[in-house]
Amino acid sequence: MRERQADVFADIPELERVEERDGAQRREVKSYVLRGSHLHAFQVDALKNFYPEYGIPFRPEPLDWTTVFGNDNPVVVEIGFGMGDSTARIAKDRPQYNYLGIEVFLAGFAKLLHACATMPLPNVRLMRFDAVQVLRSMVPDGSVAGFHIFFPDPWPKKRHHKRRLVQVPLAEMMCSKLVEGGYVYCVTDWKEYADHMLQVFDSVPGFRNPYAGFAPARPWRPTTKFEQKGLAKSYEISEVWVEKR
Ligand SMILES: C[S@@+](CC[C@H](N)C(=O)[O-])C[C@H]1O[C@@H](n2cnc3c(N)ncnc32)[C@H](O)[C@@H]1O
Repeated sequence: MRERQADVFADIPELERVEERDGAQRREVKSYVLRGSHLHAFQVDALKNFYPEYGIPFRPEPLDWTTVFGNDNPVVVEIGFGMGDSTARIAKDRPQYNYLGIEVFLAGFAKLLHACATMPLPNVRLMRFDAVQVLRSMVPDGSVAGFHIFFPDPWPKKRHHKRRLVQVPLAEMMCSKLVEGGYVYCVTDWKEYADHMLQVFDSVPGFRNPYAGFAPARPWRPTTKFEQKGLAKSYEISEVWVEKR
């Protein structure tokens, strides 16, 4: 298993590094933990064969969406797509949008890469990098139609709350990246995180919440694997939908 991952990194070195660190700078608090991924043969093959077409390497310079996707369709950015099952379904069902999926978990990244090539999903591109740094350095202001954040790690312990992805600084950054009327759609099965999300967006003046509280589920959002596990334990699902004023 380890050899295969190393083998992939030997072939595509840019896949190994998922965050930028300036020598003297202390590492920022991260919303993810990097674990070694077990890769099946189809995932190794997907990385080697399809990354050049569907993958985007991290470079600290703004992306040009028209060049990236080959059209001017609106762009939706998903942070932390996991295994990518719902990303693939949404991209297939809603081809009028382009999707940039960002995920550091290599096995999930490789699985969605495989789906991109086999389904196929010409409107999807993928990055294996810290989404916060991608947004900061590569996503132009006022250029994104929507953000999807489905079941972000809840980091339930109080001392870990600082690791939660949905925080005021990220909300402000997403707001600056959105077009007018663009949206952020977050879903979680952790009630206390859901309340925290509402507060976060409420405190950023650039957002309005058309539902005042939690939103109804979008009919086009499929149930994810992660969600099914929560549902099996009777966790309540909360949906947060806000729009840029
Ligand atoms: C709990 S999983 C949920 C996955 C998927 N959205 C689902 O609903 O099944 C959260 C995912 O977010 C990813 N993630 C967390 N922070 C991230 C970041 N800053 N950049 C990229 N991926 C991140 C993690 O690697 C993890 O796979």
